[in-house]
Amino acid sequence: MSILDALQWRYATKRMNGQTVPQEKLDVILEAARLAPSSFGLQPYSVVVVADPALRERIREVAAPQPQITEGSHLLVFATWNEIHAGQVDDFIAHVADQRELPMDSLDGYRDAIKAAISQHPTQEARLQWAAKQAYIALGTALVAAATEQVDATPMEGFDPQALDEVLGLERKGLRSTVIMVLGYRDIENDRMASLKKVRWPRETYLR
Ligand SMILES: Cc1cc2nc3c(=O)[nH]c(=O)nc-3n(C[C@H](O)[C@H](O)[C@H](O)COP(=O)(O)O)c2cc1C
Repeated sequence: MSILDALQWRYATKRMNGQTVPQEKLDVILEAARLAPSSFGLQPYSVVVVADPALRERIREVAAPQPQITEGSHLLVFATWNEIHAGQVDDFIAHVADQRELPMDSLDGYRDAIKAAISQHPTQEARLQWAAKQAYIALGTALVAAATEQVDATPMEGFDPQALDEVLGLERKGLRSTVIMVLGYRDIENDRMASLKKVRWPRETYLR
């Protein structure tokens, strides 16, 4: 299936049929998200995978409650770093040096540029917003990967982030939930959206 066919095929699935996404497909989707680009390559977020049905029951309660959360098989939580510390930038630079077999001091300019960019966001809220932008690129990449794997997915902002953080104990891990995505398979009989035409602005309006 071409990428455009896959993107036509996918839709934000409202009802899922309980079928489990196989591990190898889940791994492709997670790896695609991990390979997403981010500003400076810092990736100031993590992805938390929730498969446990009892935990997803609790999460559904703080998410509208939307049925896909328990009708799907996996929930991906894109969670930004709660704070971006100088030490995390140093760790990242050390990782780059290690992976590319470079002397650390050859990356001094890179490290300073990252720290300078972060200081442009003077409040924790502004830094969280910046990190969230990066997390959404990973979300988009995961959505495309799911479509090409013929796995249904629902991106979701319809949840209470603070309550979700509490359910998953994210604060202890230095994380904050930003956006979530359910993976599973569409329930064609019960999902009224399954047969509806995809609606987007026409090219003439969209491309300027
Ligand atoms: C960031 C984001 C948040 C969304 N939140 C929800 C949500 O909470 N629940 C839901 O059913 N759909 C949600 N959607 C799905 C959109 O409504 C859907 O993508 C849009 O209407 C376009 O339709 P399509 O994806 O089916 O082509 C969200 C989509 C995005 C990108």
